[in-house]
Amino acid sequence: MTGKNMNEKNDKMEKVISLCKRRGFIFPGSEIYGGLANSWDYGPLGHQLKQNIKKAWWKFFVQEREDMVPLDSAIIMNPRVWEASGHLQNFSDLLVECKKCHHRFRIDHLLEAKGIEPQYDKEPNEMDLTDITCPDCDGHLTEPKAFNLMFKTFIGITEDSTTTAYLRPETAGGMFVNFKNVLNTTRRRLPFGIAQIGKCFRNEITPGNFIFRTREFEIGEFEYFIDPKDWEKIFAMWLDEIKRWWQDIMQINMDNLVWHEIPDGERAHYSKRTMDIEYKYPFGVKELHGIAYRTDFDLSRHEKVSGQDLHYTDPITNEKFLPHVIEPTFGIDRMLLVCLLEAYNEEQAPTADEGETEARVVMKFPKHLAPVQVAILPLSKKEELSSVARDLAQTLRKNFLVDYDETQSIGKRYRRQDEIGTPFCVTVDFDSLEDKKVTVRDRDTMQQERIEISELKNYLISKFNF
Ligand code: GAP
Repeated sequence: MTGKNMNEKNDKMEKVISLCKRRGFIFPGSEIYGGLANSWDYGPLGHQLKQNIKKAWWKFFVQEREDMVPLDSAIIMNPRVWEASGHLQNFSDLLVECKKCHHRFRIDHLLEAKGIEPQYDKEPNEMDLTDITCPDCDGHLTEPKAFNLMFKTFIGITEDSTTTAYLRPETAGGMFVNFKNVLNTTRRRLPFGIAQIGKCFRNEITPGNFIFRTREFEIGEFEYFIDPKDWEKIFAMWLDEIKRWWQDIMQINMDNLVWHEIPDGERAHYSKRTMDIEYKYPFGVKELHGIAYRTDFDLSRHEKVSGQDLHYTDPITNEKFLPHVIEPTFGIDRMLLVCLLEAYNEEQAPTADEGETEARVVMKFPKHLAPVQVAILPLSKKEELSSVARDLAQTLRKNFLVDYDETQSIGKRYRRQDEIGTPFCVTVDFDSLEDKKVTVRDRDTMQQERIEISELKNYLISKFNF
């Protein structure tokens, strides 16, 4: 990447962050107390955008499939769940500390910055870290040490090892410990999946890049239980579904995705195939989400640690075996970041003056994901117009996410709606009182059409392809 391209890209990130704050998508967390580093609050539009992404994800991966069931498990689970999954022993990053300024860094990030492949197959004390100094002050670094990312808490009033519990670092554990409950109550046959979306917590050492890496975030994931003989076919089926998700539902530029097959030696020891789906963020190509074939690692570990039988009996062959698992996992906040980056556009738009143009920022969200779908804009605040416009807004609220705005000039109101990505603006003018029609403006083409008020709902429904 040239210096110019790099600046343009970082510039885009800055512009998106600034738009998010200005328009109420995402605010710095705890701002009136000076903030809390790397924590973010979703404002009215950001929350709605997130809801829309989660709803679309749920519809695509759960509701529309006959082989998927939903679950909502607890955030705080019996700590033995994390003993079985290996999180208590292994869920850690390797850290070094600068002996001079005492800043801490993740080894893999330091190596990456130097263009050196992290040596995942080596023990910390075997890694060659000569030549690597503190990126902040050039000081010498300590030996690497493992730092566990689990967020610890205590249940009840005493704080000791018997009351220690953890906030979940992923939702997967809930799906594994409820495998038998779901099987017994839904009478499912393999293959089938258990899905959930929920908050997760990781005490990240180097959070940053806006909402890309935070300590509190949401994951949408599912555990798809299979007969091991079918794993290759089912893995390929999920890769196709994931492509369809990005292309048809999130409608992103597919050239911005990088399909990173994790090679032997870099995968977790129990995984036979892992694919990281990466995205070309302004700050570099980094993970967006992933899919892994986890074999029977999870159920066998939970069987061993809990002492419960988690085997499945095939109803036709009577064969008894531990199901294997394919796990597609999605960071909801990373998907939202990608949605914002893909939507951000700066372009020239015609003004009211013949032949004149002005710059406009427009968030071209896929229409079904936009946090406001229809804006109702009366041309005057006069009661005779605003009462018609308010009634119209209220009627449309049953089907759409509607904003009502009667302040400022119509040009300014269009710019505001463009900036928050509203696909359709409906203006109500004095002619509307006579001809019972309104003007509908399309966000992307800026074309305007006169539509009968009585037809407006159906017209908009056809545009959204609900
Ligand atoms: N159950 C598998 C699992 O948790 P993971 O790759 O550790 O896999 C799943 O996490 C997804 O969660 C990632 O692909 C990423 O999208 C998102 N994610 C992970 N850590 C995150 C963080 N600190 N902040 C925001 N999103 C994160």
